[in-house]
Amino acid sequence: MIKPSPAKSDLNNRPIGVFDSGLGGLTVVNQLIQYLPQESIVYFGDTARVPYGTKSPETIRKFAVQITRYLQSQGVKLIVVACNTVSSVAMENVVELSSVPVIGVIQPGARAALQKSKNRRIGVIGTSATVSAGKYNSVLSSIAPDVVVFAQACPLFVPLVEEGWIDSEVTEMVARIYLEPLIRQSIDTLILGCTHYPIIKDTIKKIVDKDIEIVDSAIQTALEVRAVLSSNNLLNDSGTLPEHLYYVSDFPQKFEDIARRLLGQPLKNIRRISLDDCTG
Ligand code: DGL
Repeated sequence: MIKPSPAKSDLNNRPIGVFDSGLGGLTVVNQLIQYLPQESIVYFGDTARVPYGTKSPETIRKFAVQITRYLQSQGVKLIVVACNTVSSVAMENVVELSSVPVIGVIQPGARAALQKSKNRRIGVIGTSATVSAGKYNSVLSSIAPDVVVFAQACPLFVPLVEEGWIDSEVTEMVARIYLEPLIRQSIDTLILGCTHYPIIKDTIKKIVDKDIEIVDSAIQTALEVRAVLSSNNLLNDSGTLPEHLYYVSDFPQKFEDIARRLLGQPLKNIRRISLDDCTG
């Protein structure tokens, strides 16, 4: 039997799927809501298995494949990999599996940094897996061969953010240790190469010189999503009210608090789903 293809309006009404290892991807959701207020979103945060950044590429790929299957089962029309670690290590796996367009965060972040940098000395901070994969280096130098990239892994940032230690002295002390060697390299631009880091941007700003541009890829990613939806004729123009659903693989106490702080409103639709639901 031939399956009828969905009508255009049905496709356009479908949600955008967004995922991260935890709550960091909400920094991208925040911008998606600003730039695409008419779009529905299904978010998945793998809070039972965060952090990804200290895990092996094989494990990260396995998790990424499971979540991609899960989001596809929710009928999403586009997938945003709102995690630099997955975008660095498992982008090919997600793209290969997905039947809908996939957007990661590395290219938009790299492009935004190149627009800002004047001296072509760019710092990147990210998880250990992101820094080891070196995707920022390769993307930046493929666009601008004269660029010099200084990368620094900041493995303690994700657990501090997930614990809600956002304005704490401990976070500031840790940030100082990670960032001071980068600042000494005379960088004029710093890429926050992890979607959790914008949540501690104020702490980071206290440490880096005022003339260093801080780039977080969330806005650029949202703009790219809008461009891709538009060029594929997939924008939701039906006038229906958008729905935002948030799924987590475990219920950390802090998730709701930080999400409320980040999005400026309580999350009404958080549901915990079993990992078995995304094991394909
Ligand atoms: N938000 C993820 C990223 O962008 C965090 C990674 C982690 O779970 O360690 O890399």
